[in-house]
Amino acid sequence: KSYDHLFKIILIGDSSVGKSSIIFRYVDDLFHDSYVSTIGVDFKTKTINVNDNLLKLQIWDTAGQERFHSITYSYYRSAQAIVLVYDVTNANSFENISKWLRNVDEYAGEEKLKIIVGNKCDAEDLRAIPFEHGEKLAKKNNIEFIETSAKSNVNIDKLFRNLSKVLLEK
Ligand code: GTP
Ligand code: MG
Repeated sequence: KSYDHLFKIILIGDSSVGKSSIIFRYVDDLFHDSYVSTIGVDFKTKTINVNDNLLKLQIWDTAGQERFHSITYSYYRSAQAIVLVYDVTNANSFENISKWLRNVDEYAGEEKLKIIVGNKCDAEDLRAIPFEHGEKLAKKNNIEFIETSAKSNVNIDKLFRNLSKVLLEK
């Protein structure tokens, strides 16, 4: 075995919030402005070193589109961590986080590590959801919160590194 721990992390949230872009940035350090909607479920892996532990992260990408929901729900259970993503320029995607949280409660099984992510924080001029609103929603649900930009590579590494550290301590 070429690693000490295998962690499965799943990204969920509305269509076009940037789930695939976050993973693409993290694993391949690339970003595309064009939008290619994810079909069903996909994954990428990345091996990282945390406190002298080799961690293999299996990062699951899900389609935000409604028609794939029944497929994507079936993947929640096998994940150790669930990343709930909204787009800070899209109020609707933020309001839907509560819905995604309810789906997690219903389909993920036992209590999972969760984090709420406000993506596209580079787009300040288009921002619809202030940082504080994201923070408040996360606090209310007792979940960690971070804002990211896949485009400008803000907090992408930190997101996965922090999750990995918590999973390692479990
Ligand atoms: P589905 O697969 O349909 O669920 O969407 P998704 O959540 O995977 O979104 P995706 O990563 O495909 O990104 C959607 C669009 O947002 C693309 O045009 C991306 O270029 C853009 N985008 C993603 N992340 C960012 C970001 O951090 N900043 C900005 N400005 N645009 C972004
Ligand atoms: Mg996608």
